[in-house]
Amino acid sequence: MPVPAPNLYPDFNTVRLSHVAYRVTDLARSRAFYVDTLGLQVTGETADTLYLRAMEERGHHCVALHQAPEAGVEALGFKVWHEDDLDRAHGWFSARGRPVDWVDRPHQGRTLRTSDLFGVPLEFYARMDRLPPIHQQYKLYHGVKPLRIDHFNTFSPDVDASVAFWTDMGFRTTEYTEDEDTGQLWAAWMHRKGGVHDMAFTNGLGPRLHHTAFWVPTPLNIIDLLDLMATTGWVANIERGPGRHGISNAFFLYIRDPDGHRIEIYCSDYQTCDPDLEPIKWDLKDPQRQTLWGAPAPRSWFEEGSHFIGLTPAESRLKASPIIAP
Ligand SMILES: [Fe+2]
Repeated sequence: MPVPAPNLYPDFNTVRLSHVAYRVTDLARSRAFYVDTLGLQVTGETADTLYLRAMEERGHHCVALHQAPEAGVEALGFKVWHEDDLDRAHGWFSARGRPVDWVDRPHQGRTLRTSDLFGVPLEFYARMDRLPPIHQQYKLYHGVKPLRIDHFNTFSPDVDASVAFWTDMGFRTTEYTEDEDTGQLWAAWMHRKGGVHDMAFTNGLGPRLHHTAFWVPTPLNIIDLLDLMATTGWVANIERGPGRHGISNAFFLYIRDPDGHRIEIYCSDYQTCDPDLEPIKWDLKDPQRQTLWGAPAPRSWFEEGSHFIGLTPAESRLKASPIIAP
């Protein structure tokens, strides 16, 4: 199935992805990972929640960690342009039969909680508490020197259907992987903010969250993080990479947090804001698709992901297999 034409004038204007709300089972251990090792900054703390931001971010948080008996994902957060866009989004999701609720979230204005066609929990807001800039407070930089949240990647049971729904929302496809045998989409990368993606879909048992990615200044920051993790008790949390993606051309590393939530460290993809940007097509069997240098990803990368709270994932419609490391 071909990638649908972009919807350049969607019913509501999403600016970008904003934040992820994770449930974690040991907040102190998660703090050691996200703050002491990755270098995210603590912006708020309660008895059971930790709020974090990266160095370039002015909004209050890009990660909320909630202490809970079981790990999972509560919501993927997105910022819209204006309060009016929230009302238009409410109408858009309602018209498609999706649940819609206005919810209270600390440090945010009016927040719309809804979900996509397969139930991925989404929260939209227009205003979040603003904090003073710290991007030139170089004494604060440590770990991998994370600059900003970059994207989500989710497992979808039907990537064609996910792409159609998110295209209607105004997300534009930059790259995609097609299964040559069936002509169906195996994966797709879609953006609002002008990079390769805010949101991606990968064929698999879903929906589940595959990973959340953070942008860092240079590939050397990734090498430094590997040296740090390898000598501070985190070596088992290194999953895949470092390497250069074929798709997105970004330099990458995949690591796992103490509950198994997958985090990508990511830098140097490319600008995509032209409205007539042509999506790049990849064949599922192209060995340079995952990693430009040819190394395939491990099985865990294709099979393991974080569960959305209250959602039972379904088997994927497409059974085609990618290249998996032996
Ligand atoms: Fe990614």
